[in-house]
Amino acid sequence: MEIRLTLAPNGTVLDCNKNGKILVDRFGRSFLNFFPDESVGEAEDYLKSILDSEEVVAALLHDRTRDNGVGTLYNGFSKNGTIFLAGFQTTLLTHLAAEFVHELRNPLAVIKGFVQLSALTQDFYKYQGTILSEIDRMHSLLDSFLKLSKKNIMMQKIPPDKLCSSMIALISSECTMRKVDLDYDVAFSENACNADISMIKQVVLNITRNALEALDGKGEHERHIFFRGSVEDKGYRFAISDNGPGMETCILKKIGQPFFTTKENGTGIGLSLSKKIVAEHHGSFCVSSAVGRGTTISFLLPFVSDS
Ligand SMILES: Nc1ncnc2c1ncn2[C@@H]1O[C@H](COP(=O)(O)OP(=O)(O)OP(=O)(O)O)[C@@H](O)[C@H]1O
Ligand SMILES: [Mg+2]
Repeated sequence: MEIRLTLAPNGTVLDCNKNGKILVDRFGRSFLNFFPDESVGEAEDYLKSILDSEEVVAALLHDRTRDNGVGTLYNGFSKNGTIFLAGFQTTLLTHLAAEFVHELRNPLAVIKGFVQLSALTQDFYKYQGTILSEIDRMHSLLDSFLKLSKKNIMMQKIPPDKLCSSMIALISSECTMRKVDLDYDVAFSENACNADISMIKQVVLNITRNALEALDGKGEHERHIFFRGSVEDKGYRFAISDNGPGMETCILKKIGQPFFTTKENGTGIGLSLSKKIVAEHHGSFCVSSAVGRGTTISFLLPFVSDS
């Protein structure tokens, strides 16, 4: 159950979704009313920490709707002095990071796709390597979740065109399952980039998943995705284009903000997390889109300087 709330800094609920409304109807228009007396202080501190931070701040709070170790995981961020909260009621005892849950869905979907493909083609051995490497990726994601530290990114020097080849294997399985045509063009690079391969794959998958979702409304043989790897002055650009509906300016302005989604089942975390990962690589992220024509989302990873 997902609760969405927009709050004033003092906790007054300015806006909410249907699930939030249930809380407001029961406990009144203040976020602080949702908590028993002994944990109101904690909720207040949480609102303060959101206002002080530029990041998404997560906290597991025990509200009055549940008891016994069951709480609501809130992910909040502030913008222009207003607090935006997304809460997920959870039975988990740990501070579960919604971001990681989201990220585990990508390798899981890839594994599912490859298992289905191997059933279709009766050729398990062909896909075994990718399936195992995706399982490894889930392990390392879980590891980084358990360590709860983003500082554990494992940078390694890699030729970006090599990185592209392993991405194409992933993208093409997704495209095959969804009956979308894929073309690609990967430029050779003399220079290498520093990358946490697992994280960069995650970024590419998030972008690809969006492109595939954008093509949902189109007929078979009209859905195209293009992957391009190109050399620029300062680094290597990875770009994914689709010929979907594109985005209106009002959507383009909000794209990449945590929790911004136009999809019924979207969480709006995919691109915000991707931007963060690219920033951690000292790279840049770029979105261009034309209504009725499609969207290109790309990111640039800087070359490693040899000096
Ligand atoms: N290729 C695209 N074509 C059209 N719209 C897009 C595209 N990529 C992203 N968007 C828009 O940007 C929004 C945010 O994307 P994002 O990946 O962050 O979240 P999401 O896809 O909605 O949810 P999820 O967290 O499951 O990824 C989408 O809801 C969609 O409106
Ligand atoms: Mg997405």
